[in-house]
Amino acid sequence: MIQGYLINTCGIKKIHDFSDCIIVGSGIAGLSTAIRVSKYSKVKVLTKSNLSESTTWYAQGGIAAAVKKPDWWKTHYEDTIEAGQGLCDSAAVEKLVKSAPRMIEDLVELGIAFDITGGEISLTTEGGHTYPRVLHAGGDATGEEIEKKLVKYSGTFSNIDFFSEHLAVDIITDSGKAAGIIALDIKDNTTHIHPCSNIVIASGGIGQLYDVSTNPSISTGDGIAMAYRAGASIKDIEFIQFHPTVFKTNDGHLFLITEALRGEGAYLRDSNGRRFMVGKHPKAELAPRDIVVKEMVKVMSAQNLNFIFLDATHIPEKLLKVRFPNIIAKLKENGLNLGTDLIKVFPAAHYLNGGIKTDLKGRTDIGGLYACGETAATGAHGANRLASNSLIEGLVFGWEISRDIIKKIKNKNKPSSDRIIAKIKELAKSSSGSQNLTNPPPVNTAELVHGFRKMMSANVGILRDEKSLNNARQYIDCTLKKYLRPVLANKETIEFANMLTVGRLISKAALLRTESRGTHLRNDWPEKDDVNWKKHIILKNDNSHFELVE
Ligand code: SIN
Repeated sequence: MIQGYLINTCGIKKIHDFSDCIIVGSGIAGLSTAIRVSKYSKVKVLTKSNLSESTTWYAQGGIAAAVKKPDWWKTHYEDTIEAGQGLCDSAAVEKLVKSAPRMIEDLVELGIAFDITGGEISLTTEGGHTYPRVLHAGGDATGEEIEKKLVKYSGTFSNIDFFSEHLAVDIITDSGKAAGIIALDIKDNTTHIHPCSNIVIASGGIGQLYDVSTNPSISTGDGIAMAYRAGASIKDIEFIQFHPTVFKTNDGHLFLITEALRGEGAYLRDSNGRRFMVGKHPKAELAPRDIVVKEMVKVMSAQNLNFIFLDATHIPEKLLKVRFPNIIAKLKENGLNLGTDLIKVFPAAHYLNGGIKTDLKGRTDIGGLYACGETAATGAHGANRLASNSLIEGLVFGWEISRDIIKKIKNKNKPSSDRIIAKIKELAKSSSGSQNLTNPPPVNTAELVHGFRKMMSANVGILRDEKSLNNARQYIDCTLKKYLRPVLANKETIEFANMLTVGRLISKAALLRTESRGTHLRNDWPEKDDVNWKKHIILKNDNSHFELVE
């Protein structure tokens, strides 16, 4: 496993000015936190692509909040706990669902035009929800609407400095506290140091570790790998949620078909036309995602097919047109009609339920280091996230983080930045000339990544067992040894090293958890084992330990 810094700190191009707060990532969690903190201090936002490129953009279905009676926070709480299969942190879930309506008010104030029907906010159902409680915008373009507004609004704050195409590579710590970020400017491959006292990792998920994923190309687990290298605890990382309904376009791209379509009444059918979820769960097609995927895998294996059918042909066309304009357009491009054709779909890696362990204020176990959004394990999702709880989680815990950071910024007795700057200068000086500036060996990273993703899907995908997980660990260790040195020089190799690091953590935790629960399914341990395993796996600097759920 790679320890220490991934990048050679000699040849640093620039040590930037000290700042109170650096946010890594520009999705809903990162930008909402940046906006709040920037009212009190200068904030830097680092993002490895352009500002809008985030998983938030691709969230079609919506954002969950109990905003209309008879729904209330308690039912949202119970649904979330049930989906999480015994591993949610009840206090985190309570914070999430109680704060959700207030976060929606903030979004409305920001100008997000949630869809309205008959003069009232339009709510839909998704898997595991007792009541319709998923707000949406632009029909099936909720994430896009939110991200666009957040990017535009955050751009109006002179206190926020944006560094796009800057890949945050490593966290510098001083006496166990965050002291800065080492970043790669992707445009010219130069190394930059950003001294700071608070860092918020909001860099999204890990879908790109799998060859079939709903996530954009940026989701390579950088934040988790970086936090792990810095000494933070990684929690529940074996729980990878697969989304049940992904469509492959004629040119081979994957396209998510939102669960909200089933919320509006669509069915899942096997190749004989049978609704196979009926009788498997009281909510049938709207069972929590892990249960739907488990049944899909059984059906696909029994029928020797790699898809099942999504059927919306009985839903009025008028409703489909209003609610799913983007899906209709995408299917049309591929010669299909949502109102008359059965659509072939299959599961794809979608969401990481675990991540960097935080407390209820988004604090990790490194002073000044916070995490929120998909990269964090706040305790709100347990072994399986309830649908549409992700955008709202990013907002709620981002809000908590901003409050904690603002409190520190306002504190007149806050520690001076001099010590941090001295530490950074010392680091730069000590590295200067002390290491070789050799690049990594000339390898075809794209080919290696391709092989790795196939390996992950085959061995650490929806179904795993001891043999497959050991295969994965061996593959990863060999690859790390053979191709990667601790001194890496470009975006592709850094991302690949991060993917290998996270892949190794997932395989390790999945091997340790000898049971099946939520999104972790072991062929060789098919039952849930509450006696031995109603607990979290926490990995830290390669020494694992378990923590009992309260
Ligand atoms: C979807 O729209 O089906 C995805 C939303 C989510 O993952 O919460």
